[in-house]
Amino acid sequence: MSHLQINPSILSADFSRLGEELGAIETADAAHIDVMDNHFVPNLTWGPSVVERLHEVSPVPFDVHLMIDDADRWAPRYAEIGCESVTFHAEAAIAPIKLARELRAQGARAGMALRPATPVEPYLDMLEELDLLLVMTVEPGFGGQKFLDVTLPKLRRAAEAIHGSEAQIALQVDGGISEETIERAAEAGANVFVAGSAVYGAEDAAAAIASLRRVASYSMDDRPSVTEHVR
Ligand code: DX5
Ligand code: ZN
Repeated sequence: MSHLQINPSILSADFSRLGEELGAIETADAAHIDVMDNHFVPNLTWGPSVVERLHEVSPVPFDVHLMIDDADRWAPRYAEIGCESVTFHAEAAIAPIKLARELRAQGARAGMALRPATPVEPYLDMLEELDLLLVMTVEPGFGGQKFLDVTLPKLRRAAEAIHGSEAQIALQVDGGISEETIERAAEAGANVFVAGSAVYGAEDAAAAIASLRRVASYSMDDRPSVTEHVR
């Protein structure tokens, strides 16, 4: 199982200074880049040309979260421009296995996201095609929403399935992650935490990243190790 990561979402950054805002999170593991098309979600952000330019000036790798329809067509473009990890939504992909393989073939880590009400069970047989599984903990579309505790049982089932497989898959949570909720998500088995408003809404982004990391790592130490779990 991969290690703990804190990935701030630039959706809560100051859009007039995105380059500097990326510079403010150099202690993070990656920048979470939310791509929205106004169809899959009722909000619109940026496309590949803006993401490509931001990637050139970023001190950290890019964790791209595509909240767009027609993922089969558009996701490979983000791998092509050098994004380290590309996550499409299961609900927006026609051929998720083919798409995940294509992303990996282009050198990116392949991620798949599930909306809060989408069950993980139909996808368990394809886990090994993925490097990352994103369990959304709010309805995608906007930052600053309240963490949905109703997603915790799914997170636990996803963690068990990952531990039971040979694959090295990061389990990511996104939405409503704060110093208060990160503990619950970590205990349920997440190890990659996206945080938008909790980092960019704080006075000191680096301090916010450090304290999220500290709280998550306490909770992760408390849970059974992978080997204990398998036995
Ligand atoms: C929501 C986005 C999130 C968002 C999280 O659809 O996918 O990445 O930026 O923001 P917070 O952490 O404020 O809930
Ligand atoms: Zn996101």
